[in-house]
Amino acid sequence: MELTRVCAGVPGFAAWIAMEILACPKEGSNVFISAAAGGIGIYAGQLAKLRGCRVVGSTGSDDKVDLLKREFGYDDAFNYKKETDYDAALSKMSLDAVSAK
Ligand SMILES: NC(=O)c1ccc[n+]([C@@H]2O[C@H](COP(=O)([O-])OP(=O)(O)OC[C@H]3O[C@@H](n4cnc5c(N)ncnc54)[C@H](OP(=O)(O)O)[C@@H]3O)[C@@H](O)[C@H]2O)c1
Repeated sequence: MELTRVCAGVPGFAAWIAMEILACPKEGSNVFISAAAGGIGIYAGQLAKLRGCRVVGSTGSDDKVDLLKREFGYDDAFNYKKETDYDAALSKMSLDAVSAK
């Protein structure tokens, strides 16, 4: 784990703190990550997947939505610039409730 943290750099370490120290989602939890295609978001999503969570993210373009699902292991994602109703967007992905920490 030490080597992984060093390779991931500061954004990876920030994502690790967020997911492993602060949020600590349980296996099977739904995890929503905003700015999902940013430096921290791509790591945070993958860390949540390693914990056995279902991970959904929001980002600002269709290309980034595609990238999150194809390359970074997100189960689903939406383009926040196209969605007018975030609750509906999350419901479509079977995420009924988001609790922030
Ligand atoms: N990097 C670090 O080491 C670090 C450490 C501690 C805290 N932080 C904080 O964590 C946050 C994310 O950092 P990061 O390194 O992942 O940043 P980043 O790589 O610059 O990504 C931030 C992303 O936020 C999205 N965004 C921009 N404007 C937005 C808006 N109005 N609404 C929703 N999304 C918007 C953009 O993606 P879209 O194209 O999807 O809009 C952008 O890619 C920042 O607030 C940063 O200050 C970073």
